[in-house]
Amino acid sequence: MRQEEIWDIEAARHYDTPGVGMFAPDVLGPAVDRLAELAGDGRALEFAVGTGRVAVPLAERGVPVTGIELSVPMIDQLRTKADETTIPVIVGDMATAVAPGEYSLVYLVYNTISNLLTQAEQVACFRNAARHLTPGGRFVIELWVPELRELPPGRQATVWSCEPGYIGLDTYDVLRQHVVSHHFTFGEDGRARLFRSPHRYIWPAELDLMAQMAGFQLETRHADWAGAEFTADSRSHISVYRIPRER
Ligand SMILES: C[S@@+](CC[C@H](N)C(=O)[O-])C[C@H]1O[C@@H](n2cnc3c(N)ncnc32)[C@H](O)[C@@H]1O
Repeated sequence: MRQEEIWDIEAARHYDTPGVGMFAPDVLGPAVDRLAELAGDGRALEFAVGTGRVAVPLAERGVPVTGIELSVPMIDQLRTKADETTIPVIVGDMATAVAPGEYSLVYLVYNTISNLLTQAEQVACFRNAARHLTPGGRFVIELWVPELRELPPGRQATVWSCEPGYIGLDTYDVLRQHVVSHHFTFGEDGRARLFRSPHRYIWPAELDLMAQMAGFQLETRHADWAGAEFTADSRSHISVYRIPRER
């Protein structure tokens, strides 16, 4: 299934949950604070900007933000919140599309590098980030740590969330390093809505190698946006890669 088919009108219509979930102030606030700090006086470019969950509050903080995004329905949703002058968006693939100008910060959050389903595309994405950055510029990635310790031999799926009205489960293809996330949401009438998204999972060490291949150095890695220490038990990480000041 192609990403354009996954992120269709229906997905775009249901994406925003103002004030709750990934739109909750305690989730979004620290991310926007950190990205604003890393952008400094420069411009920011968000790969896979989506409906502007992060780009809109970051632009409101005074950081000029441009986006690259594949899905027109997601951009249409963004346009209900910010016009083209405030947040320009290039329609295209973040592994290859070029946005005009230079940036002090490129960021790719909410696990979205994993939406690129091959290693080659993920490496190309790093190279594309590097292409847009000024010397000393940073590429920030938010990504989960693969949870294969939860997958006993012979099992192909894990349930990672089970709560009233919602079940989330992942199915694995370990050979291809692929996982398909299944999100079941149950309505009042008991009917279920299913949203599925395929991903290629990446361990931090592989991510660092991709970064090196594109000319980056790892500057920091934390377990969350507020700067918690990254440990063997961390479920997710915020990795900040930097292009040397002199190339
Ligand atoms: C989970 S959403 C994240 C959106 C936004 N960054 C956020 O944090 O809310 C994933 C987004 O990635 C976009 N996307 C997936 N593959 C892409 C690609 N190759 N190039 C550009 N955008 C892509 C989808 O259309 C969707 O809008």
